[in-house]
Amino acid sequence: MSVLYEIPVELHSSRYRVMLGSELSTSIQSSELFQAASQIILVTNSTLEVLYSPFIELLFKEVTQAVVRVTLADGEHYKTWASLDKIHSAMLAAKCDRNCLVLAFGGGVVGDIAGFAAATYMRGVKFVQIPTTLLAQVDSSVGGKTAINHPLGKNMIGAFHQPSAVYADMALLQTLPKRELSAGIAEVIKHGLLADRALFDWLHLNMSALLAFNPTALLHVVKRSVEIKAKIVGEDETETGVRALLNLGHTFGHALEAVLGYGSWLHGEAVGCGLVLAGKLSQRLGMIHPTQVQKIEEVVASAHLPVRVPAEAPTQALLEAMLHDKKNQQGQLRFVVLEALGKATVQTVPLALAKEVIDKSR
Ligand code: NAD
Ligand code: GLY
Repeated sequence: MSVLYEIPVELHSSRYRVMLGSELSTSIQSSELFQAASQIILVTNSTLEVLYSPFIELLFKEVTQAVVRVTLADGEHYKTWASLDKIHSAMLAAKCDRNCLVLAFGGGVVGDIAGFAAATYMRGVKFVQIPTTLLAQVDSSVGGKTAINHPLGKNMIGAFHQPSAVYADMALLQTLPKRELSAGIAEVIKHGLLADRALFDWLHLNMSALLAFNPTALLHVVKRSVEIKAKIVGEDETETGVRALLNLGHTFGHALEAVLGYGSWLHGEAVGCGLVLAGKLSQRLGMIHPTQVQKIEEVVASAHLPVRVPAEAPTQALLEAMLHDKKNQQGQLRFVVLEALGKATVQTVPLALAKEVIDKSR
């Protein structure tokens, strides 16, 4: 099998392609980027190193240059300065130069750390994303946001650094735990809600195929999501305008994640619930109809994602977390809300309204 679709990402700073297909190791290996690299640094985690050792072996089968392998511990808890240091130290020990290529093989955690390592090594070297989770294929591998966490805040230390290519290989998704698949679907629902009514309606009808890991269904949602994200990032690379729409559901979602404690709910689970809350807020603002909110709730619930705010997340704590969100400015709560299913906008919202929506969602 090989590349089935190539989706261009056209930015002011760079241009690259997202390749979609199945069993892409040979295509990756024969790419110009691979051939031109002086050294290749593979960054992955301990789970994927074992699970995909045949894929990785195939990837480096004919490679003549030095390959440096960095395996990080698995989990959000390891998205830290220490992991970043581990990558940089391996690169320095192997005397990697400015023409080296960092390869991120993993989900959003590996992609964000490896991308940040590439952004900061010798003031920036090239990197390629091979996203292995649905969330990473539809969202985090595209757009160049790279980061690590700080004890005082998630993703607080980072840089915009675009990949030179992204290879989204559908075959890799077949081993995903079901909970991780659902978490990725949350970001797909988000894309439908903010930009593509047809995608949202498709999800309403085809959720069971997606949950059954149907390859055609997966390819469809990854393709549409990447197209939507590529267009938005192409208009606003560094989030000074329209890119903020990609945060639909995230103001509530980030607050839920923070208050429940990172690792309790997955990011995508918090986003799923956040989408329902954003829908309710939009209805409260008179922008959408209650039947549309009901449809959002149905689609989110059908993906096995939470739709209610749990008792363990008190309203006051959620409001405080939202006021501290790095996306808010000067103490004002700014939310992405829906003008219709498939159309979003950003609006400043009184705290009392956010409180009302949370209280009524228990
Ligand atoms: P993750 O990277 O932690 O992966 C989830 C789990 O699935 C891990 O245990 C991983 O080892 C495992 N896994 C990965 N691929 C697998 C496969 N093919 N088969 C079996 N298991 C597999 O989580 P994620 O949801 O991919 O990413 C979340 C991270 O992404 C967060 O840190 C978040 O901040 C970041 N993120 C970044 C952006 C961005 O634009 N840069 C956007 C959204 C999220
Ligand atoms: N995940 C949101 C963004 O990339 O802007």
